[in-house]
Amino acid sequence: MSTSRLRTPPVEPGVDLAALRQRPRRLRAGAALREMVRETRLHPAQLIYPLFVVAGRGRREEIPSLPGQFHLSADTLVEEARTAWQQGVKAVLLFGLPEAKDPLGESAVDPAGPVQQGVRALKRALPELVVMTDVCLCGYTTHGHCGVVGEGGTIDNDATLPLLAQAAVSHAQAGADLVAPSDMMDGRVGAIRQALDAAGFTSTGIMAYSVKYASACYGPFREAAGSAPQFGDRRSYQMDPANRREATRQAALDLAAGADIMMVKPALAYLDIISDLRALSDRPVAAYNVSGEYAMVKAAAARGWLDERAVVLEMLTGMVRAGADLVLTYHAREAARWLQT
Ligand code: PBG
Ligand code: ZN
Repeated sequence: MSTSRLRTPPVEPGVDLAALRQRPRRLRAGAALREMVRETRLHPAQLIYPLFVVAGRGRREEIPSLPGQFHLSADTLVEEARTAWQQGVKAVLLFGLPEAKDPLGESAVDPAGPVQQGVRALKRALPELVVMTDVCLCGYTTHGHCGVVGEGGTIDNDATLPLLAQAAVSHAQAGADLVAPSDMMDGRVGAIRQALDAAGFTSTGIMAYSVKYASACYGPFREAAGSAPQFGDRRSYQMDPANRREATRQAALDLAAGADIMMVKPALAYLDIISDLRALSDRPVAAYNVSGEYAMVKAAAARGWLDERAVVLEMLTGMVRAGADLVLTYHAREAARWLQT
């Protein structure tokens, strides 16, 4: 066969070369050019690293549902946070696993609890590290709900508020920079703000889990934190994943009550919500890249089905592009390392 048959086809008479004065590909031609016109830049200082604290010493036990994440005692927690800090991660969010549970989650206010001890150890060893604490009852209650169980198994909103406020104050007393209520009770930001101020902690901030959906993506976390509800589900307090307008209403309430940072959770299926909150207020928006999102990536990467580094950076960039200033992610340590190389 002669090669002359493979010649370039002639320009179609209908193609308007003038229209091609606009050629978006010009600015995609090389890495330097692409980097120059990049609209979103992910930086390690935007990442918040969630960590699970247990009692005792010298403990570092891998969490089966969250490969690469560990149950840490106060001392190993410091080492983990130090490594993250050296890689550029400036903030952590602590979850505690108490030694005992009861129906009211009273161990949540124990000054010697894992979170309170963890906060003290971190602030002593790494005073510059931003230490945030999750405030909720589900890890501390025998029934695993985020609030007090009242009549007929319903969750008693108003009876829960003082318990949350006391837990927040105990975290502030230990030295937490920000407390992060994740329970989704009505009025909790106001109750916590009032209790912190009354106790003299006017500088302790609140990062509210303002828009937290009743998602199926929290499974690995509940296994890690031992916080799965023992009956029913969380749909009477967490938001319906189908709702968008309700998200801005919910966030506006938290801002009015004194929230310093508003969070959207989960992140990946809720980028429209992140974008809405970005437009709602100039206060910082955080996105929580939750345990189920992490587990999906880890499971696929372990099978060689995904390039983990590329996928993680793409997802985190997407959350920031949507409007998040901060991203809470179990990938924080690794992502920070990747961003520096
Ligand atoms: C507790 C809490 C949960 C998460 C953060 N705080 C679980 C839940 O609401 O059931 C989820 C975090 C994750 O999945 O990574 N209120
Ligand atoms: Zn909870």
